[in-house]
Amino acid sequence: MNIKLKSRTLPIMLLLLASVMLIVAYWATLPIVRDVEYVEGEMALPQPVTLGTVSIEETLLRRSSIRDYNDQPLSLEEVSQLLWAAQGVTRPEWGGRTAPSAGGTYPLEVYIVVSDRGVSDLESGIYNYIPARHTLLLVESGDKSSELAVAALDQEWVADARINIVIAAVFERTTERYGDRGNRYVYMEAGHADQNIYLQAAALDLGTVVMGAFHDDQVQKLLGLPDEQKPLYIASVGHPL
Ligand SMILES: Cc1cc2nc3c(=O)[nH]c(=O)nc-3n(C[C@H](O)[C@H](O)[C@H](O)COP(=O)(O)O)c2cc1C
Repeated sequence: MNIKLKSRTLPIMLLLLASVMLIVAYWATLPIVRDVEYVEGEMALPQPVTLGTVSIEETLLRRSSIRDYNDQPLSLEEVSQLLWAAQGVTRPEWGGRTAPSAGGTYPLEVYIVVSDRGVSDLESGIYNYIPARHTLLLVESGDKSSELAVAALDQEWVADARINIVIAAVFERTTERYGDRGNRYVYMEAGHADQNIYLQAAALDLGTVVMGAFHDDQVQKLLGLPDEQKPLYIASVGHPL
């Protein structure tokens, strides 16, 4: 009886030990999931919806650049959805996002420039999107869209838009691993992220246009970007006229 009990206990103990070791090993590889503390000034965005009503084919067909917007503010849900589409975390186990990234180096930093009455329940200002926690970090208050339009060679849709999404990049995150070739990878990633914004906007009946024509130094200064971040794209967004 005693021997029988022992012969059953040992495999159970081994199984338990193996499970504990597996759980510990798993958590050790999950820096993103563990790092969920909120920084002061961060505000949580509504959870993104992951089941839509429009097919990917219809969304691709609908996608086009739209530059004329009405005055209707975006909802916080729409902003949440657009940012999630750009760089949202879809694989919390290791930090994978909606857009691919060379070697998972994730060089992109996404900002929104919110105009007055641009988004219901969100003050005008410049915000940095934090993918790991799906939050917004306020960089500076106030409507900066007219100044952004000037920096973007007076493209008037920048001033008319409810929000402008700015995609910046820290090239070193990728070039540290890939050398010079990393530079091209960063530009490719900005394209992936913005195409996601286009498709999400189309699925939500929003209008967007992406822009590469702007004065880098002026956008850098206006957004208060640190030296290592370089602006690559501006995407205006609003409800189509
Ligand atoms: C790299 C790049 C830079 C662009 N820059 C601008 C720009 O500065 N201003 C603008 O109004 N549109 C810009 N566009 C949008 C194009 O004008 C637009 O995609 C093109 O006319 C095709 O129209 P569609 O997007 O409706 O298919 C840019 C597009 C890309 C891919």
